Amino acid sequence: MIYDFDEVIDRTGTSAEKVDGMKEVWGRTDLIPLWVADMDFATPPFVLDAIRKRCEHPVLGYTAKPDSYYRSIVDWVKHRYGMEVEAEFLNYVPGVVPGLGMAINCFTRPGDKVMIMPPVYHPFSWLVTRNNRRLVKCPLKLADGHYRMDLELFRRSVKGVRVFILCNPHNPGGVVWEPEELKAIAEICAEENVIVFSDEIHADLTLPPNRHLPFAMVSDRARNNSVTFMAPSKAFNMPGMAASHTIIYNAGLRGRFRAYLDAGELDMGHVLAYPAVEAAYTQGEEWLSQCLAYIQGNIDYVDEYLKKAMPKIRAMRPQASYLVWLDCRGLNLEHDALNDFFVSGAHLALNDGEMFGEEGKGFMRLNVGCPRAVLERAMRQLEAAYAALS
Ligand SMILES: Cc1ncc(COP(=O)(O)O)c(C=O)c1O
Repeated sequence: MIYDFDEVIDRTGTSAEKVDGMKEVWGRTDLIPLWVADMDFATPPFVLDAIRKRCEHPVLGYTAKPDSYYRSIVDWVKHRYGMEVEAEFLNYVPGVVPGLGMAINCFTRPGDKVMIMPPVYHPFSWLVTRNNRRLVKCPLKLADGHYRMDLELFRRSVKGVRVFILCNPHNPGGVVWEPEELKAIAEICAEENVIVFSDEIHADLTLPPNRHLPFAMVSDRARNNSVTFMAPSKAFNMPGMAASHTIIYNAGLRGRFRAYLDAGELDMGHVLAYPAVEAAYTQGEEWLSQCLAYIQGNIDYVDEYLKKAMPKIRAMRPQASYLVWLDCRGLNLEHDALNDFFVSGAHLALNDGEMFGEEGKGFMRLNVGCPRAVLERAMRQLEAAYAALS
């Protein structure tokens, strides 16, 4: 079966954050929405079918997590990443961000230090500061258009830190980390008693030939000292289903997290979550591979267009996911002027790079998880604004 990623679907009026949320952020609705990290493709038909099928039964009562739900996750991570996981290592959490928030509250106390590597997915810093923990930053190094970890700085900054939140693969840089980087992090964190929370929500969107390496797989120390966060939400475009999960190998950490969840029934999922997750993980292989090929085509399109027509904007080609980090420093525009260029000039809604930390100054994040025709229109608009600038 060939799936259709070209279809332009109007999401207006569905309370979609990406579309209907523009009014609140920019006070206007005439922008092409290329910001919030979901895709404009239809959620796979087998996921929608599973939800419809469940709705055919007239009672939406309290629902236990079926064994088949756990099995679908166990089989998926084994098949894709060679991860050996047992059902008891898993916990349902509604979202990765809520799960990270729960884990911060479970494993740290107010005033404790939590480290991140900016520029990074912006809620990481809120999760720390809004929970009254202290934020420690270990900024990434940018060399030859690629981000790398600054391991020397990491070693120095990690003293006294309780938790390190890793973004693997990295958003917004789209980086698939080198095994050596992950191993080094695992060693340092084990020596310094720092628990690693590895956010792997974009893992399934790793673009071939790159391969995702789960942090817990890099060494025994990594496996014993980490909480992994995964979900089918990004890859199968179903974040509105609120269905994510954690994987914890270490029995001690697992017991603590389990007790924390139990105390508030925080892992109470919902009746549609389990069949949706199961459908994605048992039937999703082919859909995902076609989707990744489409995304790769969109990335190539943007990269080539920019190189040819707008050389002062450079695309950092992601190794994973549909988010393209645009280096706009060549335009020499300050923060407000850069945003104005994209919004008033090009009529595009992108994420402002500084949302991800001051290290994102001069960058914008472009979401290419959309039909090619939408992207073509966006690039034409950007080109016109670029021409007007010079
Ligand atoms: C790295 C990362 N983690 C978490 C999330 C959001 O996860 P959730 O919607 O499950 O809370 C996103 C969404 O963009 C993300 O990029």
